[in-house]
Amino acid sequence: MPYESSSPPTPSVLNELRSGTRTLHVALEKRLPFFSDSLDLQRYTRLLAAYYGFYQAMENRLEHSTLIPPGFDLHARLKTRALVQDLRALNISPRSLSLCPALPQLGSEASVLGVLYVLEGATLGGNILRKQIAERLGLQAHDGCAFLYVYGEATGRYWKSFLDFLCAVPLDARARDEAVKAACSTFSCFEQWLERQEVLL
Ligand code: HEM
Repeated sequence: MPYESSSPPTPSVLNELRSGTRTLHVALEKRLPFFSDSLDLQRYTRLLAAYYGFYQAMENRLEHSTLIPPGFDLHARLKTRALVQDLRALNISPRSLSLCPALPQLGSEASVLGVLYVLEGATLGGNILRKQIAERLGLQAHDGCAFLYVYGEATGRYWKSFLDFLCAVPLDARARDEAVKAACSTFSCFEQWLERQEVLL
């Protein structure tokens, strides 16, 4: 009799995205200064300004893309406005900030999905980061910490619905490869941008 697992198997695109980006996630996480003793309000503000430079450019590119898979509600998942809210609360005008020029290529629906996987997954550490910033700097959602916990208590629900969407899109091996490449490129472009902005450890 064939072995039957009690939980359904993880679809291969998700497995491939996870294994393809794991090392990049670990490397970037280590270099972000959220848990560093050197983190103060000024450094946190510079970090958010650098995040803005990437998210504004990336989300603008997505908003103008004709390759968003049908049925995906991009608008509901845009996060730049939370960064704008935080920067204004911290007395920074987003208009004065430079934007990241080097972004992952969006050449197919699969590559868009790879980028979205990274941007959506990045919300998962939000609750830990929000607590850290509240403890260290005393900031809450209304005065500079909206972005880190952008979906609030709905974070798990948003992630689950993103995964349901991702796994329902039929992707052949080549498309899955494009998705993983775009996800890896998203991590690399983000890290290189943060590096150039001198906000990493
Ligand atoms: C210090 C900063 C960060 C912390 C503490 C953190 C923490 C986490 C945690 C706790 C998870 C959930 C793991 C799980 O439930 O199995 C996660 C998942 C994830 N994070 Fe991060 N993260 C950080 C930064 C980032 C950044 C900057 C990005 C991307 C730009 C990112 C992308 C992802 C992705 C794509 C996943 C989903 C992995 C999966 O498929 O389950 N993370 N992170």
